[in-house]
Amino acid sequence: MPVEHAIRATGLTKRYGDFTAVDGIDFTVNRGESFGLLGPNGAGKSTTMRMIAAVASRSAGTMSVAGLDPEQNGPEVRARLGVIPQQDNLDEELSVRENIIMYGRYFGLPRRWLNAKTEELLEFAQLSHKATARVEDLSGGMKRRLTIARALVNEPEILLLDEPTTGLDPQARHILWDRLFRLRESGTTLVLTTHHMDEAEQLCERLIVVDEGRIMAEGSPAGLIRDHSTREVLELRFGMDRNQEQAQQLTTLLSSADTSSHGAAAGDLGFSHVEVLPDRLLVYAGSAESALERIHASGLRPMTSLVRRSSLEDVFLRLTGRTLVD
Ligand SMILES: Nc1ncnc2c1ncn2[C@@H]1O[C@H](COP(=O)(O)OP(=O)(O)OP(=O)(O)O)[C@@H](O)[C@H]1O
Ligand SMILES: [Mg+2]
Repeated sequence: MPVEHAIRATGLTKRYGDFTAVDGIDFTVNRGESFGLLGPNGAGKSTTMRMIAAVASRSAGTMSVAGLDPEQNGPEVRARLGVIPQQDNLDEELSVRENIIMYGRYFGLPRRWLNAKTEELLEFAQLSHKATARVEDLSGGMKRRLTIARALVNEPEILLLDEPTTGLDPQARHILWDRLFRLRESGTTLVLTTHHMDEAEQLCERLIVVDEGRIMAEGSPAGLIRDHSTREVLELRFGMDRNQEQAQQLTTLLSSADTSSHGAAAGDLGFSHVEVLPDRLLVYAGSAESALERIHASGLRPMTSLVRRSSLEDVFLRLTGRTLVD
């Protein structure tokens, strides 16, 4: 009887001496789902991934991966996973093709099957034309695609991707995202970590927001934004030394605008609050355009203004008081 979930963790904890890197988290990843861990540097994302992948022991809690306990059944769990670590660990001396073949041999895959599979994976990763190139001659994006191709050699049910596109340029990221979409469509369970909110919004059906080893919130990208932010955001710059003092003035202005019965924006502003960042102010409102009209009407003149939709970055800021990428 197959279990319904791909991964289930309860009270998952990792301590290094006195320091708690993962602090008793509970989560479930359903089969075929693409699930994300979104959080800043040091949140405990890689540590969690290593415990799933049976390469780090846990200090407390329970964990089931494809129905097995990684601590009791390490080799069986690893055979059913594909792992893309945060740092590429390709063999730089070998060719692109050889990297996949050597990895497949490690799983004891039959030679003829492995040769055919390798060509298929090179095609999938758009690396066929680089098959004989040495890894050290590849671009960063190509290395990342090769690491993913290699992780797929054992046809894993679950793919763990630790920061799949960090450090890549936008074009390389989009190529990678496209490959991950295809995997998702083919039914592979994806678990990925990121501190890029756009990546989480693109790739994750459901995610947990983690910070300092704890789960701050859980949900779909759209659900998290709905629950923890306003529909829109107005970004304003008044100049470094004036942002703080302007924040108070804006809060007063927009709060009263919401309750007064006159003015174009009255009533439908949906004003929530103002956040002060070192370089700008963020005005949270249902209609950022109406908020900006109201601000202009009052005679305030920001140096720059930008209207945008709320993102997971705003959710994170709301939950933790900090920005994701600092
Ligand atoms: N082997 C280790 N020994 C001691 N502390 C560790 C060890 N590995 C990780 N840590 C600490 O645990 C915390 C979580 O680290 P982890 O690598 O899981 O974070 P992360 O969320 O992956 O961060 P990043 O986004 O920077 O990759 C950090 O404070 C880190 O310094
Ligand atoms: Mg990490």
